[in-house]
Amino acid sequence: MARESWASRVGFILAAVGSAVGLGNVWRFPWMTAEYGGSAFLVVYLCIVLLVGVPGLVAEFVIGRKSKRNPAGALARLAPGTKSWGYVGLFGVITGLVLLSFYSVVGGWILRYFAASFTGSYFAEPSAYFGRISFGAEAAAFQVAFLAVTALIVLGGVRGGIEKATKVMMPIIVVLLGVLAGWAVTQPGAGTGLSFYLDFDPTPIQNDPIGMLRAAAGQALFTLSLGVGTMITYASYLGEDNSLAFDGSVISVLNTGVGVLAGLVVFPLLFAFQGGLTEVTEGGESGAIFMGVAGAFREMPYGEVVAVGFFGAILFAALSSSISMLEIPVAYLVDEQDVSRRNATVGLTGLVLVTGTICAFNPGIFDFVASTLVDLMLTAGLAGFLVFTGWVLGKDALTEFDSGAGRIARALGTPWLWSVRTILPLFLLATLAVNLYAML
Ligand code: PFF
Repeated sequence: MARESWASRVGFILAAVGSAVGLGNVWRFPWMTAEYGGSAFLVVYLCIVLLVGVPGLVAEFVIGRKSKRNPAGALARLAPGTKSWGYVGLFGVITGLVLLSFYSVVGGWILRYFAASFTGSYFAEPSAYFGRISFGAEAAAFQVAFLAVTALIVLGGVRGGIEKATKVMMPIIVVLLGVLAGWAVTQPGAGTGLSFYLDFDPTPIQNDPIGMLRAAAGQALFTLSLGVGTMITYASYLGEDNSLAFDGSVISVLNTGVGVLAGLVVFPLLFAFQGGLTEVTEGGESGAIFMGVAGAFREMPYGEVVAVGFFGAILFAALSSSISMLEIPVAYLVDEQDVSRRNATVGLTGLVLVTGTICAFNPGIFDFVASTLVDLMLTAGLAGFLVFTGWVLGKDALTEFDSGAGRIARALGTPWLWSVRTILPLFLLATLAVNLYAML
């Protein structure tokens, strides 16, 4: 059977933006920004996105478009004669499953909050509500529901499922967040939130430069879906050759734009209706943003309407990312093991049902997977993909980069290749070392 492909370039870009825009933008980004002192974190993070994220994204695109394969098949095929590169790709396939295991738990929380927003049942006691629903049998049930929707979209295939769904969801997310941000920034008291977010204050960088760099690097990779092979897989479905550098830049700009927009909703809301960040930074845990925002909804007029829009946007963002996680192992089974898309999707969903349920019942395991393990796996994975692109593909990577590229992009090809060979893997390996050291 012929391999699937995107119907259009816009479809590919929207699917990739859909993968990038997710809980990382709306849930992890405001939480990290609050924890690391606001605007300073934003600046460091933006620099890493530009200097590491965009070149890394283009490297994954190069591998994917050149090989037209899932990550494991791609690396094995492009480096014939050595088995070990295939294992680097396989590591990415496994990372996809690990990611989906914790991501679907958070997706389940969002689904639950979305449903509960119609009546506002969680407004009265935001902390107690979150405590009740976040882990245990109910969390597992909602996680299963979220996974089922994810699986249904992936079952529809590249064009009929992923491309169609992201084409509908992405514009809705932007409109909803845009309207909410426009409203939030004009609320009395929102100004303090805005200045926390946007007025540059270097003190947090001076206090803990390494910690900040580490957190910003982890966040940059997570938000751009790098180091897993999602972007390899999505680029493998490209039919014609367009400029990968251009597409990568557009995707990064749109992703960052949505992240910043989400911050423009969350921070003004918290400062205008909750008097600040106490709930978010207290303990710094993953649920804080839910409690903080939920508390704000209680205080505002028509809180239910705002809440439905807010959690609706996040739900779509989460789904357009979770489908990209499931698509990696599905593509692997379809490409390499000759399994049908249907059987691959059903089988893998069954597997994540088990691993996800483990996360839904164990806050300790969930926390470890969601922060420490994922950061380590993404950093190691991207370092592997970059070394592969720079040293194994070498000049061939440049040829692939140039194919379909305009004049400006071509001029950037050589500096791109050199950074992919040298400075970027070194930066990632240093980040990995610091992360490992922090675990001791
Ligand atoms: N980029 C997604 C987000 O910000 O929520 C998360 C993600 C999706 C990470 C897919 C990695 C991935 F392969």
